[in-house]
Amino acid sequence: MKAFSVAIFLLLFMHQTVAANGRPDKTTVIKTLGANILLPCWNTATNVTPSFTRWMKNGQFIIGRNHSIIPTPSSEGHLTIMYNQSLYINGLALSDEGIYLCDSLPHDNNTQTSLTLQIVSCPGNGITDIHPATTLSNGTLVVHRGSTVLFNCSSWSYPSQRLTWEFQGVAYRNDSLTAGSGSWLDFRIEDIQPTAQGNYICRAQNSVSQKEVGWSKELLVYYSPEKHPECQWKIGKDPSHVQFNCSWFGGYPSPTLLWGEKHQVPASQGNEVAGQLMESEVTDRLVINLNRSLLFDGQTLKCDGYHPMISTEDEKFCSFTLKSPYPEGEPLVTALEGTNITLTCKESSSLPPALTTWQRTAQQEDVVPSPKYVLLGQGPTFTLTIVNITKQDEGLYFCRSENPLMVRELEIYLTVKTSSQSTGAIIGIFLAILIVGSGIVIAKTVYSSRDRICLGNGFERMEEEREDVLSLVESDEEVFPEAVPRLPPLSLTNGHSTTLVQIHRISSNDHEDEEIVEHPLQLENTDMEELVTF
Ligand SMILES: *[C@@H]1O[C@H](CO)[C@@H](O)[C@H](O)[C@H]1NC(C)=O
Ligand SMILES: *[C@@H]1O[C@H](CO)[C@@H](O)[C@H](O)[C@H]1NC(C)=O
Ligand SMILES: *[C@@H]1O[C@H](CO)[C@@H](O)[C@H](O)[C@H]1NC(C)=O
Ligand SMILES: *[C@@H]1O[C@H](CO)[C@@H](O)[C@H](O)[C@H]1NC(C)=O
Ligand SMILES: *[C@@H]1O[C@H](CO)[C@@H](O)[C@H](O)[C@H]1NC(C)=O
Ligand SMILES: *[C@@H]1O[C@H](CO)[C@@H](O)[C@H](O)[C@H]1NC(C)=O
Ligand SMILES: *[C@@H]1O[C@H](CO)[C@@H](O)[C@H](O)[C@H]1NC(C)=O
Ligand SMILES: *[C@@H]1O[C@H](CO)[C@@H](O)[C@H](O)[C@H]1NC(C)=O
Ligand SMILES: *[C@@H]1O[C@H](CO)[C@@H](O)[C@H](O)[C@H]1NC(C)=O
Ligand SMILES: *[C@@H]1O[C@H](CO)[C@@H](O)[C@H](O)[C@H]1NC(C)=O
Repeated sequence: MKAFSVAIFLLLFMHQTVAANGRPDKTTVIKTLGANILLPCWNTATNVTPSFTRWMKNGQFIIGRNHSIIPTPSSEGHLTIMYNQSLYINGLALSDEGIYLCDSLPHDNNTQTSLTLQIVSCPGNGITDIHPATTLSNGTLVVHRGSTVLFNCSSWSYPSQRLTWEFQGVAYRNDSLTAGSGSWLDFRIEDIQPTAQGNYICRAQNSVSQKEVGWSKELLVYYSPEKHPECQWKIGKDPSHVQFNCSWFGGYPSPTLLWGEKHQVPASQGNEVAGQLMESEVTDRLVINLNRSLLFDGQTLKCDGYHPMISTEDEKFCSFTLKSPYPEGEPLVTALEGTNITLTCKESSSLPPALTTWQRTAQQEDVVPSPKYVLLGQGPTFTLTIVNITKQDEGLYFCRSENPLMVRELEIYLTVKTSSQSTGAIIGIFLAILIVGSGIVIAKTVYSSRDRICLGNGFERMEEEREDVLSLVESDEEVFPEAVPRLPPLSLTNGHSTTLVQIHRISSNDHEDEEIVEHPLQLENTDMEELVTF
């Protein structure tokens, strides 16, 4: 506890009223408890040597002295009458308080002068109690925001005192929060807020001596940040470095932030997480710069936050598990000349998020937005729309994803069909339908006359033909490679979609019979473009 004297008005205060004869007739002497005092006696004329002196207190004799007798020096007690009649009191006690009067022989006819002795006790034994609060090593008290805090100050003064509580904050000061005259003074603050942070001073002033003593306590109001730490990253000015930024605002005092690396230990070793501390600081924001060469796929960078208001069991952190970019999309796209085509690429795995751009041609030139190329990025999906496709647009496109770990590209090949090709395709479809239609008719005819065909060696011939057809399917050969319309790309995500594929073939044998084989196929990504589907 820090005690200090604010002001000492006086240790010895005398109030005197002067009588008509020029001598004081009434005097009040104020003296602190425990001190020594000499009370003068004015009753004898200055030129007369007194023979006997007596001192009365509150009308009662307390001590007398025959001046003819020389006192032994050793006999000094609580009260002593000096040779000049003064009364010396050694070690004032509260019981010494009273009205003193001296009397001497020979008598002086002046009115007797009385002295009032007032004992005072400085404010002392001051205790300031602020609770509930915790005390820091430097004596500063800490309370939690929102709590109700009781302030109590007690002090002892004689005969009475005035107590006040004062506040000195950063924002404002209040010289009198509350005041009173008892032996203690208390007040409370409900739902304490950070503005109540500052110094609380209890002052005690002796009502008689005016002597003042004060005790001061520094009070801090702590509160925890509301959310979790936030992890962010950004490529540093030097591109070989990545900045990882951990911030945790809104608390007082500042938290301790730790950036570390966590490795997942194999399950056989108990699946524990081994950590390596990279940097730690008492701050709201901790930024670390990591050389890209130190980063790898699957690495976890973690920022732990510790705050005095949050127990260490209540873990507060944010983390990154680094992941390489992985752009996904259709590798083969076909478009018709004169139309618009949109190439789509999805980048959802990269962490930190990748920078995804489009490039074209084998030279990998960057695609810049223009009336020809419309670039769009919505969340993880990136699209490139090529307006008014021409034959020159045919070729390679790259969806390039880059994050601090690596660069990965999705290669897309765009095939452009001319409108004449599409006319041919329509004719092809028409022809195909025509042939299929007639084929069904012929097949039906063959079926209805199957008993006749099966007679003789007809059965054997049919088996051979079936083999022929099946082998055709396996080799994926097309009868009309140019006349086949290209389908828009199928979704690759469900690689198991079953499509009924019809392959038409005119028998190489002399007979005019035509066979239609219906065969369900599992579509595979690689040969999709080669399949004829309706
Ligand atoms: C003072 O002491 C002397 C010598 O002992 C004595 O003669 C005298 O009477 C005393 N005076 C008084 C007032 O007692
Ligand atoms: C009386 O004597 C004391 C010391 O012997 C001295 O301090 C004091 O001033 C004297 N009082 C008067 C009124 O002369
Ligand atoms: C003091 O007063 C008394 C009577 O009251 C008188 O007898 C005496 O002479 C006076 N003494 C002096 C020194 O004036
Ligand atoms: C005591 O410590 C706290 C926390 O470290 C600090 O904020 C405060 O200023 C210190 N007070 C004094 C008086 O040094
Ligand atoms: C304040 O402190 C005094 C002395 O320690 C004690 O007697 C009193 O009960 C306290 N007041 C409150 C409200 O706690
Ligand atoms: C100071 O405290 C007193 C007593 O609680 C209160 O009436 C007054 O409004 C306060 N002043 C300020 C500026 O807070
Ligand atoms: C770190 O993140 C915080 C919070 O978003 C931001 O205010 C600060 O500027 C960032 N610092 C750096 C160096 O990126
Ligand atoms: C980053 O690390 C690589 C390999 O360890 C090193 O060659 C390079 O100088 C480092 N870059 C910086 C800026 O420290
Ligand atoms: C192709 O894109 C351009 C530009 O966005 C637009 O004006 C035009 O209508 C589009 N054409 C078709 C057929 O969608
Ligand atoms: C598309 O391109 C062709 C050839 O460059 C041009 O003649 C035609 O006007 C363009 N169409 C549109 C809608 O821009």
